[in-house]
Amino acid sequence: MSPPKDYSHQNGRVTCRDQTVVDTNSEIEDYDLLRLLNRTRPLNIERNISLVEIRSFFGEISNGHFHRNNINDSHHHHVSSPVRIRSGFNTPRSNGYYESHPIIADAWEKLRRSLVHFRGQPVGTLAAVDHSVDELNYDQVFVRDFVPSALAFLMNGEEGVVKNFLLKTLRLQSWEKIVDQFKLGEGVMPASFKVLHDPVRNSETIFADFGESAIGRVAPVDSGFWWIILLRAYTKSTGDSSLADMPECQNGIRLILSICLSEGFDTFPTLLCADGCCMIDRRMGIYGYPIEIQALFFMALRCAQLLLKKDDVGKEFVKLIDDRLQALSYHIRSYFWLDLKQLNDIYRYKTEEYSHTAVNKFNVMPDSLPNWVFDFMPTRGGYFIGNVSPARMDFRWFCLGNCVAIISSLATPQQASAIMDLIEARWEELVGEMPLKICYPAIEGHEWRIVTGCDPKNTRWSYHNGGSWPVLIWLLTAASIKTGRPQIARRAIELAEHRLSKDHWPEYYDGKAGRYVGKQARKFQTWSIAGYLVAKMMLEDPSHLGMISLEEDKQIKPIKRSASWTC
Ligand code: GLC
Repeated sequence: MSPPKDYSHQNGRVTCRDQTVVDTNSEIEDYDLLRLLNRTRPLNIERNISLVEIRSFFGEISNGHFHRNNINDSHHHHVSSPVRIRSGFNTPRSNGYYESHPIIADAWEKLRRSLVHFRGQPVGTLAAVDHSVDELNYDQVFVRDFVPSALAFLMNGEEGVVKNFLLKTLRLQSWEKIVDQFKLGEGVMPASFKVLHDPVRNSETIFADFGESAIGRVAPVDSGFWWIILLRAYTKSTGDSSLADMPECQNGIRLILSICLSEGFDTFPTLLCADGCCMIDRRMGIYGYPIEIQALFFMALRCAQLLLKKDDVGKEFVKLIDDRLQALSYHIRSYFWLDLKQLNDIYRYKTEEYSHTAVNKFNVMPDSLPNWVFDFMPTRGGYFIGNVSPARMDFRWFCLGNCVAIISSLATPQQASAIMDLIEARWEELVGEMPLKICYPAIEGHEWRIVTGCDPKNTRWSYHNGGSWPVLIWLLTAASIKTGRPQIARRAIELAEHRLSKDHWPEYYDGKAGRYVGKQARKFQTWSIAGYLVAKMMLEDPSHLGMISLEEDKQIKPIKRSASWTC
């Protein structure tokens, strides 16, 4: 990609005529900021997972590979010097080790090859390093794609690149973002950025995309949430709260959440979104209140609650967050939840009910229940459905939303195990030969035409429409460990290991069982590589889960509605 042309200078910032924003001299400030932060400081090491998690984990792997001395790190404690708890899958390793684990060696080598540098510092990883096809924007650092890379680096004790990434994207957030004369919210984080090298001037600049260049001009609603979640993972993993405590970071968190917490016409606590505003970044009928975003929203709110300082400004904000969390968890746990009993209730719903006594609150027509859902629903198990809005329930199963609901404790412990029950009961459908289906089932025929707008990339059982995405293995692994069922993750990883490296780490697989490398899948897709490494490292050392998992929030009141999932 050649550097964008037609710049007009404004206050040291450059706004391109095609509305692309390019950073120039502000990088110098960044560099100073980094130097300041790189000064040594005492670190707190907090690597905690709950005792329940450890107990349940032990219950299952008494003859497994969990190292006892890691348990000490699973309690809150502070030490005054940096202690690296290195995973057995870390680099560097002896040659002998790599000879016996060639896939892991290959993954680390490929992950490092995807690193992007800005003025000598690593700042992120490319989405894919596949020169055999048109790069489109896969040669950029995507915020969501970097998360598994960041976790792999953190688990390996390499926090530098994560810190640089968090600061760089924070800097990008502060730019004025204008698309076709329309100014975007201050808190919006970019979907991706690219480092541009100018060999003539021997300089480097950054190009950022806030959705204005993306295919379909989709808004990256998830970027800000991932940024907060990653900041908390960094803080938790390193014990270094000085980054999150910086006024710039505190402000960044508040700006992201301000766009979500502002008052409006909403009657629901869920966040209203346009289609394709997350990992599924094309039209897939997920507009409205998609679970993929609601679960991330919940998790980001909970991370912000932990990260925000309780000073005068912070306190007010935390109060807003507390209130929203309460309402959001009630809404999702009650209305998005589907199990056999709930399905049967909807099947028998009366319609056109008015007033507060309505049972069928959203006026869902039983006739809108798709046929497949009756067969899909196991006797034991349940899940959060894709979307809930007036007279519209999207019954599709979405992987990311359900796994994030588990790791963030949006799902109650009973709901969390019911989701894992469903995954086990519907293994053929959801895991098949390559973990893991991004959503289930695929839409086809007339529905595909209407919902996707005849999208040839999203044909049935391909890409976002029922395709299988290896990156999702890390989320499944985190959810499995959290619910005390690591054998589910182990089974899935074994399946993936048969093919991933041999197939050159594809972005996604196609087909009902995920048997075919995706039609337009990039090879050497970084998050397929990093997702695998994170899953392996977490399984070997479950204390890593602590950086990405949240305990149940005792402040959140339990729902009063009859708990159908306990049957
Ligand atoms: C595709 C995916 C999106 C990902 C991007 C870069 O557009 O749908 O989730 O961030 O590729 O890998």
